[in-house]
Amino acid sequence: METVLRVNELTKRYRRRRAEPVVAVDHVSLSVRKNEVVGLLGPNGAGKTTTIKCIAGLIKPTSGEIWLDGIEAQRQPKKAMERVAALLEGNRNIYWRLTPRENLEFFAGLQGHPVRKVRGYIDELIELFGLKDKEGTSARMLSRGMQQKLALACALIRQTEILLLDEPTLGLDVETSYELRNVLKQMAARGERTILLSSHDMHVVQDTCERVIIINNGRVVVDDRVTNLMKLFQVSAYRFELEGHLVTELELKLKERFPLLAFSSTDHRTYIDADLVEGSELYEVLDILKAGNTQVKSIGHKEPNLEEIFLAIVKGQIK
Ligand SMILES: Nc1ncnc2c1ncn2[C@@H]1O[C@H](COP(=O)(O)OP(=O)(O)O)[C@@H](O)[C@H]1O
Ligand SMILES: [Mg+2]
Repeated sequence: METVLRVNELTKRYRRRRAEPVVAVDHVSLSVRKNEVVGLLGPNGAGKTTTIKCIAGLIKPTSGEIWLDGIEAQRQPKKAMERVAALLEGNRNIYWRLTPRENLEFFAGLQGHPVRKVRGYIDELIELFGLKDKEGTSARMLSRGMQQKLALACALIRQTEILLLDEPTLGLDVETSYELRNVLKQMAARGERTILLSSHDMHVVQDTCERVIIINNGRVVVDDRVTNLMKLFQVSAYRFELEGHLVTELELKLKERFPLLAFSSTDHRTYIDADLVEGSELYEVLDILKAGNTQVKSIGHKEPNLEEIFLAIVKGQIK
């Protein structure tokens, strides 16, 4: 598949008054193929927003190249910007005095789409985002969640080749966040949009993206399919099920040797979760348990969870 978005060695250094400059993005390279939905995941301060703002042409990179649909952004900024729509973190970039429909018509017009040609798509978006009841209400009267949905709809109506979404569910209530994720999932499943979506919430990424790029301290640390990451993790995540309770002495001994073990128990069972234990260490855990006269009922693979994988990668526990 054709690559629609390519970032080569992007670096952004912010100058600060009376302080050292901050390197927010440090030689980041990435690419997104046509109709692919890619997650940009990273803790706060990792450089996600800066990366997206550079791609969207809102701030100037210190160095590096950005290609949007075959156009180099630095050389042909105006043409490049026609290829991309962005929804930025916390920025509900809509017109407060206009109704949802008027906003959608306005943003379609900005892109040069005549209203009569996009009417069908506007109806579809109003339906999809549950804005039907609010069609005649000015945007400022809408709830925060509704405004966020409208802002996303306004980015969509432009029908650009590339869509950038920075923390699209940040600050939304659980229900709205869930609804928005569903819309994104549907868009991803239909495979008709090229999307780079940033989030520090793994659920959003796990739900909607095929591939994830994890950044930390301005650098790419992982770029892989979500399913591959899950598989990689599954081979090293075990759960021991033990009969009865563990004596304190034994628990301390295990904790000292393997600080990453997590212990939990019910009335008659103890569970030890070993997320990042190598095969040989597995035997060592078993030996310690055996020496302490503990019955191991079973050892199973643990269901991997993107959140644990993410934390482990960011902490440098797995590569
Ligand atoms: N305008 C700015 N001036 C100076 N430093 C900034 C500015 N914007 C962001 N930073 C710094 O750049 C780093 C990356 O920030 P950001 O791109 O917002 O990360 P993220 O979106 O992943 O939370 C952080 O250390 C942040 O403090
Ligand atoms: Mg951010």
